[in-house]
Amino acid sequence: MLVPIVAAAALMSYLVWRLHQQRSMFKDLPGPPHHAIWGHFLVMREIADCLPPDATPQLFAHLMRKRYGLGDFFYLDLWPLAPPQLVIAHPEMASQVTQKMNLPKESAIMQKWTGHILGKKSMVTANGHDWKIARKSFTSGFQPQKLLQHVPSIVDDALGFCEVLKVHARTQDVFKMEDLSARMIFNISARVILGLKCNAQRDDDEFLELFRKQASLAPQDFWSRYLYDISPQRHYQKWKHGRALDRYVGRIVDERIVHVPDEKSKYHAIDEAIATNRDYHSLSDKETRDMLIASVKTLIFAGHDTSASTICYIYAALSKHPEVLSRVREEHTNVFGPNPSSAPAMLRADPKLVNNLPYTLAVIKEALRLWPPTGVSLRHGVPGQTLKQADGTEWPTYPFAVLVNNCATMRREDLFKDPERFFPERHLVADPADPYFVPKDAWRPFEKGPRNCLGQTLALMQLKIALVMTLRTFDFAIVYENGTYMYQTLDVTAKPSQGLPTRVRMVYSI
Ligand code: HEM
Ligand SMILES: *[C@@H]1O[C@H](CO)[C@@H](O)[C@H](O)[C@H]1NC(C)=O
Ligand SMILES: *[C@@H]1O[C@H](CO)[C@@H](O)[C@H](O)[C@H]1NC(C)=O
Repeated sequence: MLVPIVAAAALMSYLVWRLHQQRSMFKDLPGPPHHAIWGHFLVMREIADCLPPDATPQLFAHLMRKRYGLGDFFYLDLWPLAPPQLVIAHPEMASQVTQKMNLPKESAIMQKWTGHILGKKSMVTANGHDWKIARKSFTSGFQPQKLLQHVPSIVDDALGFCEVLKVHARTQDVFKMEDLSARMIFNISARVILGLKCNAQRDDDEFLELFRKQASLAPQDFWSRYLYDISPQRHYQKWKHGRALDRYVGRIVDERIVHVPDEKSKYHAIDEAIATNRDYHSLSDKETRDMLIASVKTLIFAGHDTSASTICYIYAALSKHPEVLSRVREEHTNVFGPNPSSAPAMLRADPKLVNNLPYTLAVIKEALRLWPPTGVSLRHGVPGQTLKQADGTEWPTYPFAVLVNNCATMRREDLFKDPERFFPERHLVADPADPYFVPKDAWRPFEKGPRNCLGQTLALMQLKIALVMTLRTFDFAIVYENGTYMYQTLDVTAKPSQGLPTRVRMVYSI
């Protein structure tokens, strides 16, 4: 009788002691108002209440900074549901974390979000040896010079996208742009990374479906991202789809290992990676094969999801800013001539033309500033590594999860004048005295340092081509109902709400 009571009392006092210990860690650290029992839960709830329930939490830090007048960084106490966090919203401090210290990724937490899709050793979440081997294997396939080679096939896939848009223009129906743009980017990724020609490969719809099904099983709100998923059914589905994905990708990898293209100029990213590893290991080695499978999944997933959302953000922004739309169209007319249907042939013949579109690039950059698909980098504090303020004060990174919140940095008023305004021209300002000049390291949607986005050149290239091929041919009407407009939802990455309901009209026939 007495034993359970004593045990319960002991457990209670342990929990009270632990709570006290956790909460008192924040006594002298900068942050929003802190509660002795609730930590920062009340503050989090208040911020969450300003947003729709499915909104991406990457916006929280920005709203918190504004509401509580917080500075360049602050600490958040969300124990026991989430790890204690150090949040960073400053370009130079972000560089300390991602470049100078290059703190390791917070792998354990990130794997809860993406592990079932990308595998435990995905390049995005791995550290140390696993990361190094994967990154090294795939770096050469993503060199700008290599990618120019793929421009003609990217043009073909963009034309396929236009064909589908034409059907929607004819029927005048409202469709989810995100779904359609994801299919186009997926087609491009499959070609550039794997050399898969989509029409030859009838089952790649199944490949994309598997990814989308896996993604839909990821946690969809802030708190459940940190909690253990208790549904046995979801675990089973994750396992089942995961195995199907691995088999599918495994077959592709095995085939590429055997059938090496006859000339190096025909190599795709996967062939480069295989060639890199052929020199070091035997490829039948399970570890190398697993690395190739995890990397292919990572590249296809990371690549199609983020770029597809970016296209949506751009169409949404342009439909609200006719002056920007007419300026991009003018640039396309200047580079490719007045007839939109001559652009494909010109691009195929001279792929370097994609580097001749400064205003189009500025439009993409501005959309990525306001709606970054991955607006945060989640790192892990290390004992002895400190964040340094300009006045020499040092702040601990350990034992915190370090959240580099680029989303918040890119909405700072002191870095981006009129931060809420969609104003691509700011990215073309060269004079540091101009109020719209973008300060060093402030624009960082691809992150910086050794863990920056491997696919950023490809991303920009495919976005520019898709815009050249669509903007002068179609008018995009974004049709949200009931007075709502697009915001970013959480769906592994940040996606446009409701998939961006769109209606298109053809303004020029091709
Ligand atoms: C507009 C499109 C894209 C955006 C905004 C974007 C953004 C990012 C960001 C912010 C990171 C760092 C994530 C972190 O620190 O946790 C990242 C990493 C990565 N991205 Fe992208 N990305 C895009 C497109 C692509 C494409 C097209 C590919 C490849 C086909 C790609 C492949 C990767 C890979 C492999 C990493 C991990 C790199 C490493 O850890 O070494 N991304 N991306
Ligand atoms: C992607 O490729 C497939 C196969 O060629 C094609 O049927 C489909 O229309 C393409 N999708 C888009 C959106 O371009
Ligand atoms: C808009 O409101 C109407 C009437 O209240 C409702 O039927 C409809 O589902 C709403 N649309 C959306 C997209 O929420």
